[in-house]
Amino acid sequence: MLMNIPVLTIDGPSGAGKGTVSRIVAKKLGWNYLDSGSIYRSLAIALLQKNVDLSNEIETLKVAQTLDLAFECDDGLIVKLNGQDITSQLVTEATGNVASIVAAIPEVRQVLLQKQKDFKKPPGLVADGRDMGTVVFPDADFKVYLTASATKRAERRYKQLMEKGIDVNILQITSEIEARDCRDKERLTAPLVQAVDALFIDSSAMTIDAVIAQVLSLVPQR
Ligand code: C5P
Repeated sequence: MLMNIPVLTIDGPSGAGKGTVSRIVAKKLGWNYLDSGSIYRSLAIALLQKNVDLSNEIETLKVAQTLDLAFECDDGLIVKLNGQDITSQLVTEATGNVASIVAAIPEVRQVLLQKQKDFKKPPGLVADGRDMGTVVFPDADFKVYLTASATKRAERRYKQLMEKGIDVNILQITSEIEARDCRDKERLTAPLVQAVDALFIDSSAMTIDAVIAQVLSLVPQR
């Protein structure tokens, strides 16, 4: 008999708090965690390293097809590209912007699909991204769409980057977030959209703890 592996998906725009909430919820449930954005970000780093012209979709696809990624858990998540630790490069806005440009290419999404599905392992999975509940795990048992106002998301992203020692300008962050959201929502393949069966949470005026409690309330205690 096939064992049912429960999946909880958390989708939404950047800066809504998905990463923090998903990581803590996964830890509390004792489930695996998929940060799908890190896969698109790793591809972006590989493309930047190889100086690939992003308008060349064939070259971009080739890099996606041969992407050699390893995820390791230490204190936090460590991502290795061709054996090299790229974790600290993943968070930059430049990486996020390139990720969102190449994430709009349907063939690239198709190639990266299985890498994401492979994270579904016992005892369960919390998957964070843009299309987790709509495309990658449409049959997920629990789905959340987590968002916040654009101003609040830019503020959070600014704080997060400054804490990591990355000096950024809040106005630039706001306009980059808006451009990225627009690209993610308007692309034809797997756009950022709320799954019909997802719980909508607007975290603008909520604490992280309140969001976590609401997400956890979806999952029956076992
Ligand atoms: O979530 P994060 O900001 O790390 O994602 C970076 C970019 O990767 C997003 O702006 C989006 O374009 C892309 N992405 C995606 N589908 C996902 C996760 C991320 O298209 N499931």
